[in-house]
Amino acid sequence: MATLAELCRTQTGLGEAEVIHLQDLTGSWGLLSDLSFADLLLYAPETDERDAPLVLLGHVRPTTGTTLYRADLVGQMFRRSRRPLIAQCLDEKCIVEGRVHVGVDRDISLKAVPVRRGDATIAVLARERHRPDDRPMSEQERTYLSVFDRFAHMLDRGEFPYRDEERFRHRTPRVGDGLLLVDREGRIEFASPNAVSVMHRLGMHRAVVGARLDDSGLGPEMLRSAFAKRTSVIEEIVRGTETTIVSHCLPLLDEGRATGAIVLVRDVTDLRRRDRLLVSKDATIREVHHRVKNNLQTISSLLRLQARRLTSDEARAAIGESIRRIGAISVVHEALAQSADHDVSFTEIVKPLVRVVEDSVSMPERPLRFEVTGDAGILPAQVTTTLAVVVTELIQNAVDHAFVGSSAPEDGSPGRVEISLDRKPDMLAIDVADDGIGLPAGFDPSDAKGLGLTIVRTFVEVELGGTIRLRSGAEGGTVAEVRIPASRLVSPLDDARDPRA
Ligand SMILES: Nc1ncnc2c1ncn2[C@@H]1O[C@H](COP(=O)(O)OP(=O)(O)O)[C@@H](O)[C@H]1O
Ligand SMILES: [Mg+2]
Repeated sequence: MATLAELCRTQTGLGEAEVIHLQDLTGSWGLLSDLSFADLLLYAPETDERDAPLVLLGHVRPTTGTTLYRADLVGQMFRRSRRPLIAQCLDEKCIVEGRVHVGVDRDISLKAVPVRRGDATIAVLARERHRPDDRPMSEQERTYLSVFDRFAHMLDRGEFPYRDEERFRHRTPRVGDGLLLVDREGRIEFASPNAVSVMHRLGMHRAVVGARLDDSGLGPEMLRSAFAKRTSVIEEIVRGTETTIVSHCLPLLDEGRATGAIVLVRDVTDLRRRDRLLVSKDATIREVHHRVKNNLQTISSLLRLQARRLTSDEARAAIGESIRRIGAISVVHEALAQSADHDVSFTEIVKPLVRVVEDSVSMPERPLRFEVTGDAGILPAQVTTTLAVVVTELIQNAVDHAFVGSSAPEDGSPGRVEISLDRKPDMLAIDVADDGIGLPAGFDPSDAKGLGLTIVRTFVEVELGGTIRLRSGAEGGTVAEVRIPASRLVSPLDDARDPRA
């Protein structure tokens, strides 16, 4: 659907400043619609010519009453003869009231108000509602309608929408949230029931009507500032430990003089409490992530210090492996801490894991090339950590064992380590393949006593309910095949039966 500005530009001759004036109007006309319990429609002539058709530029429905229009008519053109009261309002440049018969049984009460900017009438605002029946109006209805009329005259005099209005940062209160009407002295003439409740929250227990706004707990500056600047003022007031009230003061003007104001009020205590809670929860989580990361680094440093004091090569190598395993867990932790939710793309984690292994190779006998193909999809955090350790062990084995003693080939081609990921409907398949010397003769993986493969087997079979197989590659080398059933790849949050949930 075209925006107001687009409609103005393509269907009318309105200039840029006039379009902004109408945008300001439609930015705040929900208030006028609510005050009059009525639909508001904004019309502008297509051209300056006397008989130019009318373009419907905008429409707003009341939240305090029922709309007359289910359909969206914005953008439609009307001949003037079909909208005689609007045409009359444009021609005579004054407020016009009348009744319009629609169909057989509908009777609409219409008020057409010129929208003035400077000396020019640039558009017409039509207020349309069912003809009020003979039922007497409540005090609230009468008050709201009379306030609407005061705004209508401000529109006609070019005093509304306000100039230099503070642009709304947050949702300002609506009529239904609470409305106070004050006179030019700042005395409260009317308070809607919701407004009375808000005043009670502010600690005002006397009668609200008749009291001065200054004594109400709403800031006394607000009204003075709105009167002086002849524009609306928004304030947020905090009472006691946390009661938070947003108030929006709109001065009622008559040729530059303030004759009173309406103050819309809304209790936002619960909203603000939730905001604060979210902010502090967020900060706590970030702090915990940070501490875990630091702790992992501290553990690595302590192990490194210990390794330096050792004389046995075997002991040093063992500690070096432990540092590398902690490095793999840190990589996952970092990725999890940075992701907004708990699930991370495993493929994104494999690349930094390769780097962890590369960093642990001090003097490569032969250059190595790593390749990551396919996609493992999104995995739950716990599975990610476990699989990361498994994959790191397998890559490390390829680096440690596949290329020992095999002198680099004549052409200097690097040793290849390929990690391929494949997420199938029923399982996740991860293969770590190398083109090295292959497994030792008579090697039985299920009987292997090394710590690396023991960790891999325990994690894959016990923790993840999957399988691990080591076999010779078709063209030499070794392939490690890890298979994890899909049922283990759902987040414990989704699956309450998960033993670790
Ligand atoms: N990609 C591979 N290429 C050749 N041999 C391998 C490969 N992966 C594992 N092995 C063999 O399996 C053994 C056990 O590995 P592992 O349990 O990780 O212990 P470690 O790496 O400490 O020797 C290795 O010592 C090696 O002989
Ligand atoms: Mg190993």
